[in-house]
Amino acid sequence: MFVKVLIFGFGTAIVWLGIIASWRLFFGPLAHIPGPRLAALTFLYEIYFEVFRDGTYIWEIERLHKIYGPVIRVNPREVHIADYTFVDEIYSSSHARDKDIYHVDGLNAPSSLAASKSHYVHRRRREALNNFFSRTMVKKLEGFVQNRLDGLDMVIERAQVTQQVICLSDLYFGLSQDIVKQYGFGNHCNLVRHPNEAATARENMAVFLAYGKLMFWLGWAVGPILWLTPSSMWVEVKRAIKTFADWRSVGCGPAHKTANDMRTIFDELRNSPTLPEVERSAARLEHEAILLVAAGSESTAKSMSIIHYHLLRNERALHRLRKELETVGPGASWTELERLPFLAAVVQEGNRLNFGLTGRSCRVSHENLCYRGLMIPPGTPVSTMSIFVNANEKLYPDPWTFNPDRWLEPGAVSLRKFTLSFGKGSRSCIGMQLAHMELYLTIARTVRWEMVLYETGDDDVRLHRDFTVSFPKSGSRGVRAVARKRTA
Ligand code: HEM
Repeated sequence: MFVKVLIFGFGTAIVWLGIIASWRLFFGPLAHIPGPRLAALTFLYEIYFEVFRDGTYIWEIERLHKIYGPVIRVNPREVHIADYTFVDEIYSSSHARDKDIYHVDGLNAPSSLAASKSHYVHRRRREALNNFFSRTMVKKLEGFVQNRLDGLDMVIERAQVTQQVICLSDLYFGLSQDIVKQYGFGNHCNLVRHPNEAATARENMAVFLAYGKLMFWLGWAVGPILWLTPSSMWVEVKRAIKTFADWRSVGCGPAHKTANDMRTIFDELRNSPTLPEVERSAARLEHEAILLVAAGSESTAKSMSIIHYHLLRNERALHRLRKELETVGPGASWTELERLPFLAAVVQEGNRLNFGLTGRSCRVSHENLCYRGLMIPPGTPVSTMSIFVNANEKLYPDPWTFNPDRWLEPGAVSLRKFTLSFGKGSRSCIGMQLAHMELYLTIARTVRWEMVLYETGDDDVRLHRDFTVSFPKSGSRGVRAVARKRTA
């Protein structure tokens, strides 16, 4: 009897798998989209590269586009388009675009702004925050940013006296996390003054992001694995989970005012007249807190590290920037700094090579999309990746080279619309102004230090692996340098 049941179960499973396979390959609405049949048949193709080949599906997708053309299926349900002229259609500002449930689940903060699946829920949440991230509001934080930079200067000065190696990646991570926490919650951990703690926080974030793909695909298996294996094997995962818990508690602490008595984002959300009660619950605000800390620290710090690394590698560019900065003096404001063309080009180029989200940021259209005669039905997740825009040879010749001058050439203004560093459309980065203010003030301040790089090369800043954001080569210890003296 048992054997009969087993045979019946096995037979049913085979028939069921056969139906799914034929649907995916021959009869489903995406059967006509080119691409490897294995990727159209099973998610295992993607999982292999994402989980077992260390976040390298982006490079496989790049290879597949060379074979199959600009539109391919990257898994059984998703279409990927490598064409910068179609970006505005995928990330439309004027048409409703949902996010893909699979992708937002991976964010681990399901009721946050960025994870809102529905276009309309997203719009309501975004409206409640938009004002807070306006340029006028962000500018009010300028004094606080300068205060943090004074702290950063002291840390560099201390290291200069003892000729200790500084990890700029850690310092910048601490700086941007202090800023975003202050803006969001009215308090911070003073990571700028404690580089060791900043190093731990950066490492925890890296572990959290790197394990994100594992949790996304094999999350169901993590519980049993944790239970079955010695706890020492999972120290890193547990640390990442704890970091998460810490961010939560910060977001939901009592209301605080910022240094200059500014309201915080969470004061704003808690009292928002536009948000219904359920949107102001502690549970949802927790998710918003996680997202803000993650989005606000990692990416900005990455741009700072990339820029500073390339300037230290390129004496002429550094000299030119210092000369330009002399025209405004050491205490220049964000507004004054923005008017400096070379500094603006340096910031722009750093953000280009940051790539923003390196992974596939899907949008789901409510109506048919048509790409070069191929119909993509409503409800299909469609994505592109920033490498196909930011590192596109046609737009940016010699794309992996840090070359600020490309932003100063005639016609460069039109290039600006072809960058995906901050995303596009209604769900693009809400923190762009804040990021810019931090970048201008920080670069203007830290390039005044004479520094030499310490055991740092291109592989420490270049995109090698995609864990939602750009990750360098495995084993990288970040951008490190030794400070010699301050130039002014
Ligand atoms: C150089 C620095 C930064 C870069 C390159 C960057 C990049 C991006 C990108 C590409 C997106 C779009 C994500 C998507 O397609 O779903 C995004 C969204 C977002 N970013 Fe940033 N970001 C930066 C700094 C910041 C800062 C300082 C904050 C402030 C707290 C922030 C908060 C957010 C939030 C809340 C979202 C979600 C927006 C939404 O879904 O409506 N980001 N960011």
